[in-house]
Amino acid sequence: MKKVITYGTYDLLHQGHINLLRRAKELGDYLIVGVTNDNFDRERGKLNVHNNVLERVEAVKATGLADKIIIEDYVGQKIDDIQKYDVDIFAIGSDWVGKFDYLNEFCKVVYLPRTEGISSTMLREDLQDEVKIGVVGTGRIAERFVPETTYVNYVNVAAVYDTNTEKAHTFAQHHQLEMVASTYDELMDNVDAVYIATPHLQHYEQCKQALERKKHVLCETPLVLKGDEARELFELAEKNGVVLMEANKTAHSPAFNHLITMIKSGAIGEVVDINVSESKLWGERFTREMDASQAGGSMYELGSYPLLPIFKLMGIDYLNLNIYSKMKDGVDLYTKGIMRYPHGVCSFQLGLGVKTEGNLVISGTKGYAYVPSPWWLTDYYEFRFEDQNQNKKFFYKWDGAGLRYEIQEFMSCIYNHRFSTARLRRRESIAMANVMQQFGERKNFMEI
Ligand code: CTP
Repeated sequence: MKKVITYGTYDLLHQGHINLLRRAKELGDYLIVGVTNDNFDRERGKLNVHNNVLERVEAVKATGLADKIIIEDYVGQKIDDIQKYDVDIFAIGSDWVGKFDYLNEFCKVVYLPRTEGISSTMLREDLQDEVKIGVVGTGRIAERFVPETTYVNYVNVAAVYDTNTEKAHTFAQHHQLEMVASTYDELMDNVDAVYIATPHLQHYEQCKQALERKKHVLCETPLVLKGDEARELFELAEKNGVVLMEANKTAHSPAFNHLITMIKSGAIGEVVDINVSESKLWGERFTREMDASQAGGSMYELGSYPLLPIFKLMGIDYLNLNIYSKMKDGVDLYTKGIMRYPHGVCSFQLGLGVKTEGNLVISGTKGYAYVPSPWWLTDYYEFRFEDQNQNKKFFYKWDGAGLRYEIQEFMSCIYNHRFSTARLRRRESIAMANVMQQFGERKNFMEI
């Protein structure tokens, strides 16, 4: 029996796929089809696949051409499969000519003619309308945001607005944006959504104005510095049928998400303690970040990142939070927070003027998770146990500036009319704003 194997994503199964499967089947007597796993697709940069793996497997099955369907999970699996299933021919579309010649060592490689004029990418484009985004503010993070949008389908950064018009023009030129808006209103006239990357104190008003005009909003973290303001904004968004999301890049990173789901599944037992820290000593490069009148300081600048693993794993119902800060000119150079929960205790350390280790340690009744510095850009972590033979290391991909994951989730919320994302719940954003508020009001606060 001559066995043939072929692989693909098979998203929105189309005639091109069917032709390919038929041609592959004709090469032998038995056809194995490898369908990519969702995670595998994400890891190789395919962020926009429409159907999930189960739907894609069902679609391939429905063609009646596959004798066996397998899931493709990892790089290098093709060689394993060819050997495991004793495959004679590896077949793939002609768009891949040359790319799989290395498999000739294991079986015959055949590139089959690709069907012209159709692809999953084209079908996905027909399925959805482009979302026009206007960027508000032209600082460091906005600079990183625009290139990251190119990795997500259907996003078009259409315009930019900054109170400093000269900076806005330079930004537009650099990123080849068509429009520089002269007012915030003009920006909103021309877009479906805004990305707010202005100093913290402008967030509330800018979010509110955009939501009132029924624009989707992706707002840099911290969203706002008061719990009530955050609640009001989320209510306004839902009332007006638009998405409001706090842009916390760590919340959307593949490694962080997997870390959380594994721990929630009991990988290290019951979580009792979280120690998390983040610091940046940029000295002279800090201007706004060290200015009290612009809500500078460690807590406002960095706080929402360490609060993320704490809220994700311990929930938002802490019993109390004590805050200790080293202050200078009205801003906290360093802040340590200790949060007590019914069955645990957590601490976070934040430094713009004090260097900390910058790792994340989550201690459980069976073992602990160790995420090395900088944990907030994590692509690697370990689970460690008393019996070191049980230790496990996990590696992931962190692409570019990492903002593409949050942009993709923002788009997914818009298309699927979801007002809240599981990666960073509205209530978690509100709880973060409550912590900022407690700090602002100097409650349970002590200067060191
Ligand atoms: N294929 C084909 N003709 C097409 C589209 C795809 O022969 N018009 C083949 C590919 O060469 C591959 C298989 O179908 O062997 C599965 O491809 P896949 O990447 O799932 O499909 P695409 O439509 O190319 O997807 P995308 O647009 O996401 O790249």
